[in-house]
Amino acid sequence: MIFDILQTKITVLISNSITRDQTLHLICELLKTSVPHYDWVGFYFKNGHKEELILGPYAGTPTDHTTIPFGKGICGQVAVSNKNFVVPDVKAQDNYIACSINVKSEIVVPLFVDGQNVGQIDIDSNTIDPFTEHDERFLEFVCRSVATLM
Ligand code: SME
Repeated sequence: MIFDILQTKITVLISNSITRDQTLHLICELLKTSVPHYDWVGFYFKNGHKEELILGPYAGTPTDHTTIPFGKGICGQVAVSNKNFVVPDVKAQDNYIACSINVKSEIVVPLFVDGQNVGQIDIDSNTIDPFTEHDERFLEFVCRSVATLM
């Protein structure tokens, strides 16, 4: 299955001696090009001690939302809740920051380093309700792998 193949590829990418941001960018591109329902893939990270997220490496259309306050949008809520957030239909969300009219659904999975929520992977999909537990387990693996670089 695609996620098993991707796990192996991500482990190889993580072990390469390139910069952290180069690795993250390659992971974003790999995920976007390999998973049909991943249309935008990016990382957000906590901005030092400030209660806001800053956009890191991503693959897909550039977004205006390069800074997101804690609590705002799906990303900002995950920064506070420390939990995965699966949004099958973005239209059903009140606290949602729209990046593109094409986006129908979203998944955000937090990234922990030493038990601290330091960021997240954010995926937008142009398909409605595409995410399953397989996506969650896979993206948790991606975040655990990326955490080893932080
Ligand atoms: N939709 C997100 C904002 C980030 S973009 O998807 C790139 C949110 O509601 O937090």
